[in-house]
Amino acid sequence: MLVKIIYLLLLTAWAKEYDKAFDLLFTSNVKEFDEITVHFQKPLPTWLLNKKLIRIGAGCFGMGDRKFHHVFDGFGKMHIWNLKPNRTTFSAKFVRTRTFVDSEKRNTVSPLYTLFDDTVPRQSLIDRLRSLFNGPDNVNVNIVKFGDDYLAISDFWSKYVIDIDRGETLFRTSPDFLHRSIISRRIPLLSSSHPIQGVNIVTEINPFGLNYVHLVQIKSAREVVNLLSIPVDEAPYIHSFSLTSNYAIIVANPVSISISKLFETLNPSKSIIWRENGESDVYVVDLRTLQYRKYRTEGKFMLHHVNAFEYNDAIIFDTTTYKSFTLIHDYQLDTLRNSTVRNKITDLPSLKRYTIDLKSGIVKHKLLSNRRPYQGLEMPVINELYRFKSYCFIYGISFKSDNIQFSNVTLIKVDICGKGRDRIWELNGHIPSEPWFVHHPNRRAEDDGLLFSVISDGIRLRSYLAVFNATTLTLVNTSPTPTLVPMMFHGYHE
Ligand SMILES: [Fe+2]
Repeated sequence: MLVKIIYLLLLTAWAKEYDKAFDLLFTSNVKEFDEITVHFQKPLPTWLLNKKLIRIGAGCFGMGDRKFHHVFDGFGKMHIWNLKPNRTTFSAKFVRTRTFVDSEKRNTVSPLYTLFDDTVPRQSLIDRLRSLFNGPDNVNVNIVKFGDDYLAISDFWSKYVIDIDRGETLFRTSPDFLHRSIISRRIPLLSSSHPIQGVNIVTEINPFGLNYVHLVQIKSAREVVNLLSIPVDEAPYIHSFSLTSNYAIIVANPVSISISKLFETLNPSKSIIWRENGESDVYVVDLRTLQYRKYRTEGKFMLHHVNAFEYNDAIIFDTTTYKSFTLIHDYQLDTLRNSTVRNKITDLPSLKRYTIDLKSGIVKHKLLSNRRPYQGLEMPVINELYRFKSYCFIYGISFKSDNIQFSNVTLIKVDICGKGRDRIWELNGHIPSEPWFVHHPNRRAEDDGLLFSVISDGIRLRSYLAVFNATTLTLVNTSPTPTLVPMMFHGYHE
């Protein structure tokens, strides 16, 4: 009996510490830092020197008297570690977008630009109408290199060019590669936040005609080439896609943007429609001929495509999948900040493999892991040397790892080759963010390298950069950050 009581007390204490770590992620941090020296617990291996690590996410959840309702509206903030030979520097800067600068000036959330969801208190009807006219402007999802330019991007087409040495915002860019009319230009283009080697997907919504999914090659901040335009009935929301050496795989899940709903609600988050029992259209584009074929598969929502490769007459792609699109509500700040409500989130991701037989047209699918928490992997990353190739390892994080508490987040490595090399890192009250893999220069195996992750520590109420041995997933080094790091989504390293 005594053992049971002690166990229950321990469980309750651990739950509180995970919740504290989780709450830190959704707490605004307006402090900025410019290349200040930070220290690792142990010396870094020399092969890591001169590398840069950059993360971007939601750094501030409102301004003045107005708060955001949805985490996707958080003002974009960058965190940069520059591993110089004599010292490591750390910078933390907001992307100085037009909406951020205007919000700072007014000391309230700018009424000029489209938000993903409402503010609290809600902006006036006139302000919401006016903001739709100007379109979205915040960028907080990813940092990507195109040519010599580094761009902060989101799921919309407008981007900001960044100086990644110090996190300075240089200028806004939104190349008009479609040469649309003045009226059509007022409807923002959607764009995947996960371009691959300069290739990306752009969705064009047209209330007076066909919608299109464009496959584009982004050569630099201002230079974009439209490779192919695919007409579609519904305008799909596509967060990521797959690429192989010869094919692009664009999956239009049964989730789409309704322009009539947008005009009715003046709220993009309420304009996304999930078609229950709908299927997914799979467009396979041959990059050599720019011809495409359409296939069908089950109607899941695929948030993050992981990797894809060709195998004989088949294309294989791996992705995280959801039963529906409830995550749009699950990521509202009221839900994320309330442990009772967020613990009721049930639509957790499943890691799946889809195999498209190009001859028969049949698309088969299977789970890549049958075991929790590995099956629930999100924010997937791989050894980039294995992009477009058959591979074994996916790294990521798993929410609700204990199947009870949503804030119980673990760092995981899934061996999809099934050789039992799955690994997990969990530490009471410590929440990892999306990891990133840096391969060893003299690598002997796919997982020979280091894995980095920013950790939210609910016990000491701080954040730190953690370095893991990617083979064993053991913690080998840490560097405390001089400030709390809120919810980071994705990033870049070189
Ligand atoms: Fe993403």
